[in-house]
Amino acid sequence: MKASEIRNRFFEFFGEQGHSRVRSASLIPVDDPTLLFINAGMNQFKGIFLEKEQPKHLRVMNSQKCIRVSGKHNDLEEVGYDTYHHTFFEMLGNWSFGDYYKAEAIEWAWELFTDVLGLEKDRLWATVYEDDDEADELWKEVTDITPERVLRFGKKDNFWEMGETGPCGPCSEIHYFVGDDASAQSADGVNTSDQYWELWNLVFIQNNRLSDGTLEDLPKKHVDTGAGLERIAAVMQGKSSNYDTDLFSPIIAAQEKVLSVPYEENLVAHRAIADHVRMLTFSIADGVLPSNEGRGYVARRILRRAARFGRSMGREEPFLAGLVDSVVELMGDAYPEVSDKQAHVKNVIEAEEESFNETLDRGLEQFERIVAELEGKTIPGDSAFKLYDTFGFPLDLTVQMARERQLDVDTDGFDAAMAHQREKGRSEGKFKMDVSELHWTTLSDGDDSQFVGYEESKTEASVRRFHADDDRVVVVLDKTPFYGEQGGQVGDRGTICGDGFEIVVTNTVKEGESHLHIGEWREGDTIALPQVTASIDKNRRGKIRKNHTATHLLHKALKEVLGDHVQQAGSLVHPDYLRFDLTHYQKIRPDELRAIEKMVNEQILLNTELDITVKSFDDAKKEGAEAIFEEKYGDEVRVITIDGFSKELCGGTHVDRTGDIGFFKITEESALAAGVRRIVAVTGQGAVDYVADRFEAVDAVRSLLNCSDAEIAERVEALIDQRKKIEKELKQRRTSDSGDELTSIIGAAREIGGVTVAIDQIQASDGEELKLMGDRLREKLKSGVGVLGAVINDRPSIVCVVTDDLVAEGTKANDLVKTIGSELGGGGGGKAHLAIAGGKDPAKLTEALDKAGEIIAEKLKGDS
Ligand code: ALA
Repeated sequence: MKASEIRNRFFEFFGEQGHSRVRSASLIPVDDPTLLFINAGMNQFKGIFLEKEQPKHLRVMNSQKCIRVSGKHNDLEEVGYDTYHHTFFEMLGNWSFGDYYKAEAIEWAWELFTDVLGLEKDRLWATVYEDDDEADELWKEVTDITPERVLRFGKKDNFWEMGETGPCGPCSEIHYFVGDDASAQSADGVNTSDQYWELWNLVFIQNNRLSDGTLEDLPKKHVDTGAGLERIAAVMQGKSSNYDTDLFSPIIAAQEKVLSVPYEENLVAHRAIADHVRMLTFSIADGVLPSNEGRGYVARRILRRAARFGRSMGREEPFLAGLVDSVVELMGDAYPEVSDKQAHVKNVIEAEEESFNETLDRGLEQFERIVAELEGKTIPGDSAFKLYDTFGFPLDLTVQMARERQLDVDTDGFDAAMAHQREKGRSEGKFKMDVSELHWTTLSDGDDSQFVGYEESKTEASVRRFHADDDRVVVVLDKTPFYGEQGGQVGDRGTICGDGFEIVVTNTVKEGESHLHIGEWREGDTIALPQVTASIDKNRRGKIRKNHTATHLLHKALKEVLGDHVQQAGSLVHPDYLRFDLTHYQKIRPDELRAIEKMVNEQILLNTELDITVKSFDDAKKEGAEAIFEEKYGDEVRVITIDGFSKELCGGTHVDRTGDIGFFKITEESALAAGVRRIVAVTGQGAVDYVADRFEAVDAVRSLLNCSDAEIAERVEALIDQRKKIEKELKQRRTSDSGDELTSIIGAAREIGGVTVAIDQIQASDGEELKLMGDRLREKLKSGVGVLGAVINDRPSIVCVVTDDLVAEGTKANDLVKTIGSELGGGGGGKAHLAIAGGKDPAKLTEALDKAGEIIAEKLKGDS
């Protein structure tokens, strides 16, 4: 049975049991700082389990994209080495939100496996949590499993937790014996032998793990199940490896073609690459971009691991982007986002792989050097750190390469080197609030945080709860005009006043659906009565609205001017500016920037009224609305339409008419990462001020040059040319005067061990000039050693020359400069007759020249 059919049968079956199908959440978690990537089907329902959100349906099912490469669930090290661990996989699941519980969950799982999919009962095993008598008995009651096949295990195997904190509970797993000889099964193998595969996990969510480690009971009991599609497909297709199923074999076939190495010849590398290409395709399609931190760094690590596996099979050129088509072909029907973003994914992978390729060879050479010089079996932490820092080798790549040579890596030492560097580089620690540390005082009951800020800037509200400590106060209201930081738009500021107190709100953030108003007391130090007036800073919000609508106009204009490959890769809507990161593979040219600005300003001048409507996600997508990465979209979405130009899903606050933006000006265009550019722009009064400042600067230059605007560039160019000419003349004059200068330097030369040694400090405008002077000194000396020093561009430099007769006797300028150069605190090199050295601190030059005589004397003594 094909994997796609297994997926369909799963949905058919649970559909018959009254489950509604929900979309797979994006791999990028929304509003959940405890998670780097979505790692289980239940992540998107965490708010429901914790009663922060109301479920729309009490029974749901889905097929969730999952990534397990960090935190509590991390399978990376196994990937490639075994046949069934993956960084990316699909999890089929059914959920009950306070509806059915253990009996149905167990009964249906068994029915689906045995009746619908026809798995052999005498290869299946069930496990339950050691204390869970109920589940144990239910297995025997509601299914026809042989009772001896129900086993009990402890916390490690049968108590499931999402992360360090969050919803959790005892679980019951279904395992399948994949061995050839069915009679060779025994209870001992379950959870110990790799012949028994865990196929399905039924979690009975009834607890919440708090950050201090304690467990609290949840108000309701829920069911959360997860079945790995890849493993079920392998079992159903009679394969002993997931990689032999129809979910992987077309990808591996594509790899065999580009790498020209048959699968059988390098199983580990082929498997790892196939896994990693899927992970990269899906994560990049969901908005991840390789970078140096967070999930971007995970993508980078995975890509580099895959690229190196390619290199280990002799592939020199980038190849990963070429495999994306095979993934899209396989998965595009079930996950249309990978088809939509196919070109983007390929571009990102290509740019990143190319940039890694530049240092890969040198890194591999360095690795070989480290191994060659290694005493013992452990690569030191600072060597691994150097590979990381200089050649971009993520630690796990070095560990992986070490493992292939039966070596270890001192990862603690690596961490220490990393911590040391971080300490050095630490500048501003971004303030992040840990919500679990807040102690709430409740003042009124009921739903909270109804957002009225699209229409109102001031409202009468009730405080639901607040927290106060020495540094701040945090308030949650029943309704609020304050926008909570989201979708790139910063949170609102303003005031909350009530009986005997006033709070200045300095930021508003969202925790789940709740708006947390964070601020300081201006008056009073507690809240006694819930009634308050909440008002936002209207002027500031006005600026934010302008910048947000301008962001939509910019997004569309970028696509129009640069092309459809442009994707939003990040955005910040601030009152003073807007920042927009986009995928684009070269610098945006000045004429393109101008065209973009012009297009945005044309839309502003058209003064179009914004059309803001709420509709279903599917309808909005059908109308072609742009959906942005990193946003969580419910079934109902807000669509912002600027007629004839742009249509985006967005929860942010906008101007009424485009004309309200006033004026738009780009202030900066720069590179953010391989294939990602950043644009910063201003609007309204900010843009007017920006232009006025620029004019002032131009005016100042113009009046100095005493010319018109149009002539400025020409005049400055002429001045630069003139300066170059003068410098050249000066140099020539110095060189022609140098005869005299050199004569006097030689006149002052010393005899050291029978050799003439001339040392002095001179003036030179660049290294070339200094070398020229060195050459001339060499000629004039006839026989001897010369050292000339100069401060060039605030740095000390020396040239050392040795005449041919002495070179023949073994005195070498390149040897001498090494020692003299180290006096400058730098290095040097060159040829035997002429060599140069340099340092950083100009004050060291005199000292080095003073010591040069001694150094030469030592050297001559050594040579004679
Ligand atoms: N949440 C459970 C798991 O991921 C089903 O295994």
